[in-house]
Amino acid sequence: TTARFALDPAFTVGEVDPRLFGSFVEHLGRCVYTGVFEPGHPSADDRGLRTDVLDLVRELGVTAIRYPGGNFVSGYRWEDSVGPAERRPRRLDAAWRSVETNRFGLAEYIDFVRKVGGEPMMAVNLGTRGVQEARELLEYANHPGGTELSDLRAAHGDKEPYGIRLWCLGNEMDGPWQTGHKTAAEYGRLAAETARAMRQLDDSLELVACGSSSQAMETFAAWEATVLAETYDLVDHISLHAYYEEIDGDRDSFLASAVDMESFIENVVATCDHVGARLKSRKRINLSFDEWNVWYQRRFQAEPLPDWEEAPRLLEDNYSVTDAVVFGSLVIALLRHADRVTVACLAQLVNVIAPIMTEPGGPAWRQTTFFPFAQASRHGRGRVLDVRVQSPTYTTAKYGEVPLLHATAVRDETTGAVTVFAVNRGQHDALPLEVDLRGLAPERVVEHSVLADSDPEARNTLTDPERVLPHPGEGTELRDGTLRATLEPMSWNMIRLG
Ligand code: AHR
Repeated sequence: TTARFALDPAFTVGEVDPRLFGSFVEHLGRCVYTGVFEPGHPSADDRGLRTDVLDLVRELGVTAIRYPGGNFVSGYRWEDSVGPAERRPRRLDAAWRSVETNRFGLAEYIDFVRKVGGEPMMAVNLGTRGVQEARELLEYANHPGGTELSDLRAAHGDKEPYGIRLWCLGNEMDGPWQTGHKTAAEYGRLAAETARAMRQLDDSLELVACGSSSQAMETFAAWEATVLAETYDLVDHISLHAYYEEIDGDRDSFLASAVDMESFIENVVATCDHVGARLKSRKRINLSFDEWNVWYQRRFQAEPLPDWEEAPRLLEDNYSVTDAVVFGSLVIALLRHADRVTVACLAQLVNVIAPIMTEPGGPAWRQTTFFPFAQASRHGRGRVLDVRVQSPTYTTAKYGEVPLLHATAVRDETTGAVTVFAVNRGQHDALPLEVDLRGLAPERVVEHSVLADSDPEARNTLTDPERVLPHPGEGTELRDGTLRATLEPMSWNMIRLG
């Protein structure tokens, strides 16, 4: 009943791209307004950004920050979001049935990204707009000066170009809910022409083509194959989106959600490489898992959207410790595929299915999911080691027999420090773990941090914001080249060896 694996520095998966720890800010609900941006809040800086949120975003350790959507981007007119804020138009945002004031726009987003030390990741609207608008936005954002659009940016107060390198060619264009939804062939052509036009201005851009909105889409895999056949030489990444939730009380399956996520990644890799083989190309397309999270989507879909409010409370899931364990397992799934997943964005960052919550005029606090992300972003940098677990299993309705242990390990090659991330999916029993350290020679266990609770429904809330916090693991030891630990039932674990 002990779970085991061996770590050997000679056997690795790949280097972690820092952008694996990206996130996502969409004009949706209160992610922007009263989330990152709230002029008049006691903590707001001179540009209206909440400094209490900036501090938490830095602590979370996010890298690339995708913007401005999401479904929102398919109605986005970038021109509305620049220039003097008081002159920007109020518009209907049909995706979320809200009123968009445009008080927060492109310049404010860049200011936010810079203040948190992140990297911009901008999406263009390929739902209701096309090649020309994408190219004009690129010119406005990145061209140094001497043209109407680049001089306009300077006149708006930003002489320095924004230097946005990473661009998404639309959002979820395979989804029938998307404004301007397209077939794979239609989208593939449009994405190719948009990419070509953007590359005419700057060939060093990194471009992301839309893949499927989930592995369950009817068009899944055929969509990727068709889109990549058109865009293979023009883009660098294909996107993946996935959200997980506990359905009808089936917690065992929910705890195994990463089984779906890993198969999704492997199937997209296979599809990319199939297209590459057909094209006799040596180029490899990488994966941008640019929306992932736990999201109680069924609950959201059961209720009608409010009518045309500004910044309504939408998708404000309050995460339990169980959700955080599943969430941690999703992080492990991404790290285990670090050779091909080079960008990933936790959807989203503040208030909307988010690790950080705020109250208008009030405090900001950490949800349970904050902790696995922050720990992995801080200590999961370096080279992922090839972890092949031998583990007792349990039975799930959705995925059959699933190992109780889900794990990965990352080695910092400059310091030699190794960090193991592990989830015990078992609801009721502790899981003994033994790791054979082979060629590694760490001297000690620096830290064993655990997220678990005797109440699987425990959550952090406005009135009790620190109900769930990580605690130290007990009895974890390193002896004769073997790490021994006990993983609490339903737990996320970070074990640092130094
Ligand atoms: O993240 C919430 C929404 O989920 C995004 O707007 C959309 O891209 C996805 O369906």
